Amino acid sequence: MNIDLIHIIYLFGSVTFILGLKMLSNPKTARNGNLLAAAGMTAAIVGTIFLKENEVSPIIYYLIFGAILVGTVVGWLTAKRVQMTKMPELVSLFNGMGGACAGLIGLIEFPKVAAHHPEKLGIVLAGMIIGSVSFSGSMIAWAKLNGTLRNAIRLPKYNIVNTLVLIGLVAYAVFIVVAGAYDPMHLYLLFTIAIVYGVLFVIPIGGADMPVVISLLNSFTGLAAAFGGFLYDNQVMLTGGILVGSAGTLLTLVMCKAMNRPLYSVVFGAFGETATAASGGESQGSVREVSSSDLAVQMNYSSKVLIVPGYGLAVAQAQHVVKELETLLEERGVEVAYAIHPVAGRMPGHMNVLLAESNVDYDKLKEMEDVNPEFAQTDVVLVVGANDVVNPAAKTDPTSPIFGMPILEVENAKSVVVNKRSMNAGYAGIQNELFFRDKTSMLFGDAKKVLGELVNELKNLD
Ligand code: TAP
Repeated sequence: MNIDLIHIIYLFGSVTFILGLKMLSNPKTARNGNLLAAAGMTAAIVGTIFLKENEVSPIIYYLIFGAILVGTVVGWLTAKRVQMTKMPELVSLFNGMGGACAGLIGLIEFPKVAAHHPEKLGIVLAGMIIGSVSFSGSMIAWAKLNGTLRNAIRLPKYNIVNTLVLIGLVAYAVFIVVAGAYDPMHLYLLFTIAIVYGVLFVIPIGGADMPVVISLLNSFTGLAAAFGGFLYDNQVMLTGGILVGSAGTLLTLVMCKAMNRPLYSVVFGAFGETATAASGGESQGSVREVSSSDLAVQMNYSSKVLIVPGYGLAVAQAQHVVKELETLLEERGVEVAYAIHPVAGRMPGHMNVLLAESNVDYDKLKEMEDVNPEFAQTDVVLVVGANDVVNPAAKTDPTSPIFGMPILEVENAKSVVVNKRSMNAGYAGIQNELFFRDKTSMLFGDAKKVLGELVNELKNLD
């Protein structure tokens, strides 16, 4: 009876994951999709604890509920308090925790599986290796996203070393399974190599290439969880793992396309080979400044304005004032839309989420391929806190770490206005020659503050 009910609960959980994921693809339904999938996960956890036929001592239940309590309080408080700009770091941290769970499952289950089900050893080790790589890699990604480890650290011949460590890792796991080397010492050594590989894999990646790595680590955690599902013959864990793994893989491919990087270069070596942050911050001449009052007049007489949001918009929390600007301009007959680069900000869909918060119409968000041909017919492009995603070096400078990455071709517009606080570099640590071009004017200051001034100037024009 209990067994039947648990299968129904697992089926319910799996369906909610699939529906939830589908609903996440639209900002209007995303919140409910998240809640639906969370409800399915809660049902699956509760069902597993109470309905699975487990022969465990009561103390285990106390430990489980204690861990759930601590995890819920810490997770809830962290997620409640986190600023929007710190979200990518938090996602990396949570992803790392998923990987750590998968790694620990492997460590704990290995002796039991080796003794009773040696045919499942491959599954245990695969889950442990992938989970551990995802854990340590995500921790490094977290440090890179919060700025602690911004620059790439490249050991001599790191590409070759990384590939050899990966081959060694797989070969060692095969040896353990095939030769029946069940001594725990082998397991701990394998675990340590997997942790080291995760670190080696992510530290050389710098510049602007983190989006690909983050989504790849995400897919690793999903894959590791799916191996856990196989191991325990647990359908909901399997479904959840496969969904995360495949969604992460698809996202990786989308990010690869966005960055114009082949996937093999992610796995077998860091990209941006010629990357150097040395050019960051160096001045390339003088820039022209524009005041908010002059810009208000210029925009007032424009037919078409495109706004390019970037990470700085998120930092400044300027999404509401941008929406106000859009409304004011449209009241004056100016056509306004937003040009969205797929890696603008610090997480996939960052700009979409941010602008959805201020009720910007989703139809006004134009993707890079669609909007690039439109710049030539645009009177004013207002770049708000974006830098790398509009840097022409991606097209013109083969030595640049972002070379090859498609960019928003704002320089084709009649006039470009860039809002940022200083001449500091963006995430890739390189200077942007766009700022020094004849068509470009700089509107210096915090985005929320200066756009607020711009809005007031526009109102004064009435
Ligand atoms: P960035 O290149 O990071 O540039 C952001 C700019 O915003 C900075 O130059 C900064 O200049 C300005 N800024 C910061 N605070 C501001 C404020 N309060 N008001 C106005 N401006 C402010 O951003 P981007 O163009 O969006 O490019 C994203 C970068 O992050 C890419 O390199 C991308 O590869 C990388 N990345 C993306 C992701 C994902 S998945 N999206 C993940 C990891 C890394 P000032 O300091 O002078 O103000």
